[in-house]
Amino acid sequence: MVTVRAPATSANLGSGFDVFGAALSRPADVVTVEKAAETTIEVTGVGAQYIPEDPEKNTVGAVVEALDAPARIHIDKGVRPASGLGSSAASAAGAAVALNRLYDRGRSREELVPIAAEGEAVVSGVAHADNVAPSILGGFTVTTAEGTRSVDAAIPLVVCLPDVAVSTRDARRVVPETASMEELVETVGNAATLAIGMCRSDPDLVGLGMSDPVVTPERARLITGYDDVRERAFDAGATGVTVSGAGPAVIAACRERDRRDVAAGMLDAFADAGIEARAYQTRIGRGSTVL
Ligand code: HSE
Repeated sequence: MVTVRAPATSANLGSGFDVFGAALSRPADVVTVEKAAETTIEVTGVGAQYIPEDPEKNTVGAVVEALDAPARIHIDKGVRPASGLGSSAASAAGAAVALNRLYDRGRSREELVPIAAEGEAVVSGVAHADNVAPSILGGFTVTTAEGTRSVDAAIPLVVCLPDVAVSTRDARRVVPETASMEELVETVGNAATLAIGMCRSDPDLVGLGMSDPVVTPERARLITGYDDVRERAFDAGATGVTVSGAGPAVIAACRERDRRDVAAGMLDAFADAGIEARAYQTRIGRGSTVL
């Protein structure tokens, strides 16, 4: 039997749409696998009732196929589905790391990234690796067609998750198909600033680089109260605020000493909009860990 803790992740970080990702120190899924003749999946935990246990429909089924590793699989969800925190990716990443170990498949962590991304395709229709890469490798990740590069970074974060669901499929429909040269130049500048900030573990640069003029404004419209949540986070000391992944979670970078106030400000703003929410005081963390 092998048990793996696979962390939640935040994709995009504003300026890095479909490219940037970060592993979060919390929350996480816990995936346990045992050899079996036929694959069965049991799901418990947060939002388990919304997750299919049929291996054909579950994000983990494609991972089993790719590694030719039938197993009895138990997924204990700590990452709520449809949250913008890489819920399906955490399960796929955890299963990939666990099954690779269980069957001694000998794949490197880097090689497991595209395998886990196949699982993502089952849920969102596109095999993105911007959530599975950080969930497997940890740290801050940059994923392109050429593969993934990662770096460890010490950045305090707050992730505020409202009690509403936004599906990745729906959130991809609002992404603009074109951007102007001016928006492109601004986005490249911000993304580069954020990447330097990660390499230096500098929350100011990371926050500055989260700004994105193209995708985030469209997606923010799907999140009731977003503008106020953003403003309250900045008032409390956040250095940058954006939509986490496809939403509805909102992520803020900050200094350690401001993290509690940033979380409180974001929760208050959602409450003022009549929406229940929970805040995770978190940071960039490690990738999937065999327990
Ligand atoms: N980059 C993807 C998107 C991540 O924003 O649609 C989905 O979680």
